[in-house]
Amino acid sequence: MTRAAIDFGLTHVDVLAAHDTDALQAATLPSQRTVDVAQVRRALAALGRDVADFRQICVTGGQHRRLPDVIDDVPIVKVGEIEAIGLGGLYLAQRRQPDLREALVVSAGSGTAMVAVRNNRAQHVTGSAVGGGTLIGLCKLLIGTADAQEIDALAMAGDSNKVDITLIEATGGAIGRLPADANAVNFGRAATLELAKVNREDLAAGVAVMVGQVIAVIAINAARAERLDHIIVVGHLVDLACVRRVLHAVGGYYGVKFTIPEMPGCATAMGALVGAALTQ
Ligand SMILES: Nc1ncnc2c1ncn2[C@@H]1O[C@H](COP(=O)(O)OP(=O)(O)OP(=O)(O)O)[C@@H](O)[C@H]1O
Ligand SMILES: [Mg+2]
Repeated sequence: MTRAAIDFGLTHVDVLAAHDTDALQAATLPSQRTVDVAQVRRALAALGRDVADFRQICVTGGQHRRLPDVIDDVPIVKVGEIEAIGLGGLYLAQRRQPDLREALVVSAGSGTAMVAVRNNRAQHVTGSAVGGGTLIGLCKLLIGTADAQEIDALAMAGDSNKVDITLIEATGGAIGRLPADANAVNFGRAATLELAKVNREDLAAGVAVMVGQVIAVIAINAARAERLDHIIVVGHLVDLACVRRVLHAVGGYYGVKFTIPEMPGCATAMGALVGAALTQ
């Protein structure tokens, strides 16, 4: 066990322990939205470890630059979040697709960031303030729960077309690559619905579809503009089946495949390990 990596996000802190870039242990903790030495110790404690167990601790995400350069004689290596997203997303996707050399990496976290990675260099392309935090926040307002697992189960059981206006209603049929049952207006039906008849499942599904579609459509257009053939999606938002389903549906409409690697929530922490190794 030689190196640790910690990604300080707005919702989660993800921590890995690794030999080189072979992750051996991983944990995810709720974020306390502060980054200091105590938070580093708290993250490592979630793996049952201490600072002194490592020869190097790589940090990224949020306010990681506030950390000192050394804790208990162990160097703290700071890796920019954009670089960590790009390198980590590509690294995880390469496990299944070893020939992959460049891609658009979408970090679907509390918010959404899109990063082009080529030749081990990452560049921020675009993003959206619509992300996982939007899904949770709107569901709290609309259906009274901020529990991600509950929202996922409700959304999977619901039908977003109960709250959306579909293309068949809007235009009478399919448009281009979009089938007639694709939506034309997210929540477009809600204005005229009798509130008592709207169920929680359909509301959760409507929010998941809206959030997933915003991310998918921006990603497809960004990848085209950047002339990148591959889109990799990481972050804990794609732990949720309801969001993965929307991404794959939109990808199907446009003939684009979204690659979601295993353990997508640890991609940015993994990228901190990869990025730190590149600079040494
Ligand atoms: N068990 C869970 N608890 C909380 N959120 C979850 C859970 N599973 C999935 N999510 C989703 O993951 C989102 C957060 O993703 P992630 O942890 O990757 O972001 P982050 O790194 O904390 O944020 P950012 O990178 O934007 O600072 C939540 O907003 C929520 O939609
Ligand atoms: Mg993050």
